Amino acid sequence: MDLVTRLEELKQERNAVILAHNYQIDEVQAHADFVGDSFELSRKAAATDAEVVVFCGVQFMAESAAILSPGKTVLLPEARAGCPLADTITPESLREKKAAYPQAKVVCYVNSSAAVKAESDVCCTSSNAVQVVEALDAEEILFVPDANLADYVAKRTRKKIIPWNGHCITHYRVTAEDVRKARAARPEAVVVVHPECRPEVVALADHVASTSGIIRFAGETTALEIIVGTEMGILYRLERECPDKKFFFLSPGLVCRNMKMTTLEKVVRVLETMSNVVRVPEDTRRQAYASLARMLEIA
Ligand code: 13P
Repeated sequence: MDLVTRLEELKQERNAVILAHNYQIDEVQAHADFVGDSFELSRKAAATDAEVVVFCGVQFMAESAAILSPGKTVLLPEARAGCPLADTITPESLREKKAAYPQAKVVCYVNSSAAVKAESDVCCTSSNAVQVVEALDAEEILFVPDANLADYVAKRTRKKIIPWNGHCITHYRVTAEDVRKARAARPEAVVVVHPECRPEVVALADHVASTSGIIRFAGETTALEIIVGTEMGILYRLERECPDKKFFFLSPGLVCRNMKMTTLEKVVRVLETMSNVVRVPEDTRRQAYASLARMLEIA
């Protein structure tokens, strides 16, 4: 039996839904029930009535699904798929920083562990970070762990943003020089980047958005050539949803190794064996749930 037939059979048998991030490899996106950005995926995970959620993404995303849906079994096809940005902060280091800014509220980007979410007041994603910060009744915000997203927010609010010094190593590879070169090579093109890019890259872009926001922008712009500053997995949806447009990337290094670890074989394997179950200790889960639920209420 071929892999796709086996996958469909297992999905029925287990009452499973397959969620995939926009950075996943083409084959995984093609066979997922839903593909989206971090915010859309967290909403789907909270709303689904499937008993099993196979989360094709990285650890923190699957953890968020487990936090939001305690009655469901969440499977991560590749247990080693982590996030170097999420690894820049621990609950202990966050507690130390909180002690230095006792009046500040903590906004935590979802690219963080369950334990860090549990230590925070509210979560955010790249699509709602400004909205979440604006909604809080505090003038000082400790924004963790992405320094570039913190800078993006700081430029769009009057509140004082205290950043954490974490970065996404993939987005960090894009430089202002890359944007200048790409624009010189294609003067008719528009440039759209993710807010995890460096501030000088964000400043040179025509539009800044989450991964699904980039896909929406590509559909709406009248430009026929689009230069993209985010992970290359996004090309699958861009080409399918905008077949009349041409896409170029700001750097050949825009590949997240962790996002590429998930394959269709691994999705079938975890469904067959019900292995790689994502578990979050109940006290951490409850506290992290409060931070994620606040975000879902605000956004
Ligand atoms: P979004 O899909 O929310 O834009 O986030 C991208 C990302 O950081 C994945 O790690």
